[in-house]
Amino acid sequence: MRADPLQYLATELASLREQGLYRRLRVLDGEQRAHASVDHRSVVNLSSNNYLGLTTHPRLRERAAAALDTLGVGTGSVRTIAGTMAIHMELERRLAAFKKTEAAVVFQSGFTANAGTVSSILTKDDAIVSDELNHASIIDGARLSRATIKVFPHRDVAAARRILEELPRTQRTLLITDGVFSMDGDLGALPGLCELADEFGCVMMVDDAHASGVFGQNGRGTVDHFGLHGRVDVQVGTLSKAIGALGGYVAGSQALIDFLYHRARPFLFSTSHPPSVAATCIAALDVLETEPQWMQQLWDNARFFKGGLQALGFDTGVSDSPITPVIVGDAALAMTLSDRLFAEGVFAQGIGFPTVARDKARVRTIVTATHTRDELQFALDCFQRVGSTLGIL
Ligand SMILES: Cc1ncc(COP(=O)(O)O)c(C=O)c1O
Repeated sequence: MRADPLQYLATELASLREQGLYRRLRVLDGEQRAHASVDHRSVVNLSSNNYLGLTTHPRLRERAAAALDTLGVGTGSVRTIAGTMAIHMELERRLAAFKKTEAAVVFQSGFTANAGTVSSILTKDDAIVSDELNHASIIDGARLSRATIKVFPHRDVAAARRILEELPRTQRTLLITDGVFSMDGDLGALPGLCELADEFGCVMMVDDAHASGVFGQNGRGTVDHFGLHGRVDVQVGTLSKAIGALGGYVAGSQALIDFLYHRARPFLFSTSHPPSVAATCIAALDVLETEPQWMQQLWDNARFFKGGLQALGFDTGVSDSPITPVIVGDAALAMTLSDRLFAEGVFAQGIGFPTVARDKARVRTIVTATHTRDELQFALDCFQRVGSTLGIL
């Protein structure tokens, strides 16, 4: 009999089990909501990126259903051949207006927006100077570009400056940060990095995946939050988190967008969104412009829950956003905390290496606009009970 050439994968998985890092996928039985049924258990859901509760918003559902009826279920082609519908162009115009840029291009995901952009605008002769905690899609894009990769310690603008001082002034350089860091919830050092970009003539890029719909006027993101319009050359956002659907986009100059239309490989070589997705995203932008109550509720809930965890004595790190980690250090302990919380009716995912540093394992929580105070208080009570039992408090 033929020996299994993939046997080494089973060995890797056994090692993950030993380290307490093996995870079974949790399965939602119904909709993505603040209170959901997961693995047949009714839970307060603190694990989604559905910041504004838009995954089930009636206006988005209606527009998606109407697009299904009038435009069908798929596009049958990549954007550059026959897969560009008028509704894709409408979404891009709306995103550009939302971000106050000349133009925007939509990708199939935030991941491909980052990876496709970084890999196409840089060459092996260029350099990228990147925060050490930037998202995996930025790291992959940088590797694909074959540019020289320089990493500065998290949010350390002085260290980024030292790197830039050592690079040849003639070398094209991309300076890049997440707007909000997805595991710690803290803001990137965007204002200081913009100063550096001006001084050293860098291309400035921000990944606002967790900031769009959360920070800035009507959720315009960190560029708006910090008053930096016109100083960030490449703004990436996602349509998969606060916007409630799926996709990513890049907003910037017309030349940048035209270039990405011609050179970004995920744009060129992968089929475009179904029209219902584009319609959903347009409806989400309408909601952001006309229903400010969701952002207000999101922030009220975030303050209440973060304050509650801190008052109980948990280590919540340095978060500035609705993402609040409960840092416990040891990966096995984080996974046990997550499992016990789940058994009590709270879904908060455990996260360990390699997503976070080995000694910074945590349970990550994200509140949404649609959590009720009762649900959040219930979750706090569970955290207190389980945290005490496990000796974390
Ligand atoms: C900081 C950051 N950038 C980009 C992405 C990718 O976005 P998407 O889920 O739309 O691919 C994520 C999502 O996991 C993220 O957290």
